[in-house]
Amino acid sequence: MFSASMEQIVSLCKRRGFIFPGSEIYGGLGSTWDYGPLGVELKRNLKQAWWKSVVHEREDMEGLDAAILMHPATWKASGHVDGFTDPLVDCKSCKRRFRVDHLKEDKNKQKKCPDCGQVIDLEKNPPRLFNLMLKTYLGPVEDESAITYLRPETAQGIFVNFINVIDSRHRKLPFGIAQIGKSFRNEITPGNFTFRTREFEQMEIEYFVKPDDAGLWYKEWVAAREKWYLDLGVKKDKLRLRVHPKEELAHYAIGCTDIEYLFPFGWSELEGIANRGDFDLKQHAQFSGKDLRFYEQASNQRYLPYVIEPSGGVDRAALAFLVDAYREEEVKGAKRVVLGLHKNLAPYKIAVLPLLKKRDDIVILAKKIISGLGKKFVVKYDDTASIGKLYRRQDEIGTLYCLTVDVESLQDDKVTVRDRDSMLQDRVSLDKLEEYFNDKGL
Ligand code: GAP
Repeated sequence: MFSASMEQIVSLCKRRGFIFPGSEIYGGLGSTWDYGPLGVELKRNLKQAWWKSVVHEREDMEGLDAAILMHPATWKASGHVDGFTDPLVDCKSCKRRFRVDHLKEDKNKQKKCPDCGQVIDLEKNPPRLFNLMLKTYLGPVEDESAITYLRPETAQGIFVNFINVIDSRHRKLPFGIAQIGKSFRNEITPGNFTFRTREFEQMEIEYFVKPDDAGLWYKEWVAAREKWYLDLGVKKDKLRLRVHPKEELAHYAIGCTDIEYLFPFGWSELEGIANRGDFDLKQHAQFSGKDLRFYEQASNQRYLPYVIEPSGGVDRAALAFLVDAYREEEVKGAKRVVLGLHKNLAPYKIAVLPLLKKRDDIVILAKKIISGLGKKFVVKYDDTASIGKLYRRQDEIGTLYCLTVDVESLQDDKVTVRDRDSMLQDRVSLDKLEEYFNDKGL
């Protein structure tokens, strides 16, 4: 089975307009990435697939879009001001700064700089804690009282709105709140393309349950989230679950399972599903002075629910889908690159290609087809190369079907539809096109 390298993915992303280096004309800005015309479609499709699966198809979920800037007390309550830190150490030789857990160890168990190889003596040069939150000032005066943070996770926006959602939606337990949005972390060692960056998007759920039911719901969510990746085409042997051992868990956490993908740089986390107990609501109740307990009518009791948190990354999922879908194959002695993305994720569903772009009648018919089909499907016109090259380009960006308008189409009102994966072709009547693509599940 074909396994893509990161070089192949990065090159395809730049060449075909999925992902560009951020601020490139100024030499780039460390580890920022811009999603191009194809990338933005892929990300929108991915987020839509997530939203459909966790909000629209479920009776027990609500959506939310909270502000990125939150009251600074939020981050005190959540533990991020005091605890969201990495221990860092400076290499005295090359002057670069590293996370302690990223230092190399030689056979004598001496810690070494991963860059210049110089020994780093942690006793003489002890690590310092570095907070990963990005600070900013609200308002015109840049003093201590104006400091706030760009949120390092979307989750806290959900917790602070827990009561608002219950009151406005008359919710009973169990129920959950889902949110997609940007998060920011001043990562010390960003890298592996879009895998670890300082600005990224998260898709997070807080699912509130009766404490006694938390174990059951934790298992349910691990299974549901694993299934989501598999249903969208991720290869089973490239996905695995990793249960955190006790010593890896935060002090309040009862359990955590990561969904990992086998990237070209090794098994790495796509998403974590955690049983967080009542830690978050308890903290916010304490810091805000508000009663965040849920009132259960049946028992006439108030209590803090437990929460199950499936927390994934949009960028990481997009990268995994790209890596997983990329394949190279040989067709008639030539290399064919195909992005075999799931139909719901593919940026363009249909490309309309005129066989002869200099024939006005063919172009007019092609554009007429687009104006009809374009109302139902994402359709793109392309006449910038010969038909063979156009097929290859569409294969590379994952377009599911290429529809070719030729001279015969003018007489028989039929076009050729070519399937991306099988490359088989069907001749389809113009008046049956919509039905044809509906039957394909587009
Ligand atoms: N609220 C829990 C939370 O934020 P996390 O494991 O720190 O947990 C959840 O983050 C997900 O967000 C990760 O599984 C990953 O997909 C994504 N993520 C976290 N940091 C990231 C970064 N620096 N770059 C890209 N994605 C990141």
